[in-house]
Amino acid sequence: MSSANHHTHTRSLFSNKFGYILAAAASAIGLGNLWRFPYLAAKYGGGTFLITYIVLVLTLGFTLSITENSLGRKTGKSAILAFREFGKKYTFIGVLVSVIPMIIFPYYSVIGGWVLKYFATYARGGHASAIEDGFFGSFISSTAEPLIWTAIFLAFVFMVVAFGVNRGIEKSNRVMMPLLLVLLIAISIYGLFLPGAIDGLKYFLIPDFSKFSPALVLAAMGQMFYSLSLAMGILITYGSYLDKKEDLEKSVAQVDMLDTVVSILAGLMIIPAVFAVAGPENLGAGPSLMFITLPKVFNHMGAPDLVGSAFFLLVFFAAATSAISLLETIVSIFCDATKMSRKKALAIIACISVALAVPSSLGYGIWANFKILGMQVLDFMDFISNSLLMPIAAFLTCVFVGWIIGAKAIHDEITLSSRFKTQKTYRIMVKYVAPILVLLILASSMLSAFGLLSL
Ligand code: TRP
Repeated sequence: MSSANHHTHTRSLFSNKFGYILAAAASAIGLGNLWRFPYLAAKYGGGTFLITYIVLVLTLGFTLSITENSLGRKTGKSAILAFREFGKKYTFIGVLVSVIPMIIFPYYSVIGGWVLKYFATYARGGHASAIEDGFFGSFISSTAEPLIWTAIFLAFVFMVVAFGVNRGIEKSNRVMMPLLLVLLIAISIYGLFLPGAIDGLKYFLIPDFSKFSPALVLAAMGQMFYSLSLAMGILITYGSYLDKKEDLEKSVAQVDMLDTVVSILAGLMIIPAVFAVAGPENLGAGPSLMFITLPKVFNHMGAPDLVGSAFFLLVFFAAATSAISLLETIVSIFCDATKMSRKKALAIIACISVALAVPSSLGYGIWANFKILGMQVLDFMDFISNSLLMPIAAFLTCVFVGWIIGAKAIHDEITLSSRFKTQKTYRIMVKYVAPILVLLILASSMLSAFGLLSL
């Protein structure tokens, strides 16, 4: 996706299926897999969460990803224009999905800033300070420092998108992504040898259905939307770049699978280590899990500074490629919809991002008392996007496809290049199961947010 392509509205097709899969996977694999998945799995019953998550990906997740990719490839357009192809009155669905990345991007960059801070700490040989009590807490609750790291992260991402060096990023992906996998596997294996880790492994892999709860399903579903980047226009855009000859069904399945494998590896890396070094009582630690537990694991290793810097560099890389793809989506939506220049769009988006990132960061410090529905700003933005807007957007997309244009429209697109083995289930999923499921989830998350239901 080079800048020139957005300008002229011609579509650059990926050179081959591998190019598509690599780009889509680099966009999907990010903080969602490495940071968000392990802390949710740890918090919500380990194996029970894992099983629920996998079932959701195979059913709802796959249905939605293939739907969005097909809409994109069929129309050759990004979200807003893709929906408008079918009639002006559907434009609003495109607009709704387009708002979501704008909410995610700023707080994503705040976490990206934390990752950079950890990288810098290890690169300077600070493994001992990284495990001091309160290191993480005092960092995120200070005022200026997290903001500076967030600014560096944002500056990097904006620079890449502004100068259109995405091609270079795609090339380095080819090296960095496999490296990340290797490191994840190596750290997991190391962690598994720590005394007590096997209990953690059991907790993560063996479901205990007494832990099953509506809150767990909600969390797993929100995580799935987040990790697969569903219901926010991104897959429509990616689909529009996919060649008509490529096997759409298989490509989508492979991307979803890769993303899920990385999440599972991240869980394997973190959860047994939590048991071993921090004890199971720390499972509910939440967003801090990666930043507090892992440094302790690194400290048991031979060269903690080296492992720590390598690890956080690769996490930074995964986060940056996702953030770049988020920003690219936002820019292309802005440009498609308003015909403004890329430069102007970038300037406006930069202002909005800073305006939303600052409160997300300060919510951990001097603004900690400012709560919306009992949530800190960052949690609130996460909630609004993943638990409110994404299910609404997913519901509208399913109704649009299942009941308005008809599953046949998607079927015709997919069978251009695939046998579409799952077509019978697909129709039932998109027409009945998915919208009902999403609606139930939406209702329960709203009720619980307003305190009408305790999950
Ligand atoms: N899926 C990404 C992750 O797991 C995060 C993400 C959400 C994203 N929406 C996106 C990335 C849109 C790119 C584009 O970290």
